[in-house]
Amino acid sequence: MKRVVVLISGRGSNLMALHQRLCMLAQAETGVAEIVAVISNKPEAAGLHWAQAQGIEARWLDHRDFQSREAYDEALAHVVSDFHPDLVVLAGFMRVLTKVFVQRFAGRLINIHPSLLPAFPGLQTHQRALEAGVCLHGATVHFVNEQLDGGPIIAQAFVPVLQCDEAQSLADRVLHAEHRLLPQVVVDFCHGLVALDPLDRLQRSPEATHLLF
Ligand code: GRF
Repeated sequence: MKRVVVLISGRGSNLMALHQRLCMLAQAETGVAEIVAVISNKPEAAGLHWAQAQGIEARWLDHRDFQSREAYDEALAHVVSDFHPDLVVLAGFMRVLTKVFVQRFAGRLINIHPSLLPAFPGLQTHQRALEAGVCLHGATVHFVNEQLDGGPIIAQAFVPVLQCDEAQSLADRVLHAEHRLLPQVVVDFCHGLVALDPLDRLQRSPEATHLLF
């Protein structure tokens, strides 16, 4: 069983979807991974309380208690390392990570982002997609590098933009797609179907999921 640490900042719906999928696989005796810890930069994150209630180790490390981004990331790296993760998942972790953290977990650090990267990195992705008039939107899971929402793309889920969409309706459908995409990528990673090579290039086996509709 692979050990997964999930980092969050808020409600944690992707965390819940991942946990549900991993538990279903475990119950079917085809388990590949377990969430060994959930860590938030915000003590009040709803997802953290949910994790606690499930009996998952839940920790917080408040970024407001640190002088610099580097100092925070170093402390965070220590907490994460204590759980000996095979994979670290950023699931709504709303901070850009510095070199010290990214390098420490290179090849085992992934993020889910609510757009079809490289389009719309950063915030307000749904509103920006509507303003840009794109017909197709969605979500991306990628390995993490030091750029905001950068790093090799592992898989994407596509969501059509409807004529009647507002940012919230589009966000709802993208979130639903995220809940399918992230668990699938985690399972593929745990089966060794996706990886980063030493030159930080994506290696993806033909059996790995890379598109979801
Ligand atoms: C998701 O849309 C994720 O892609 C983005 O932040 C949101 C987190 O939602 N990075 P949740 O906390 O998983 O519900």
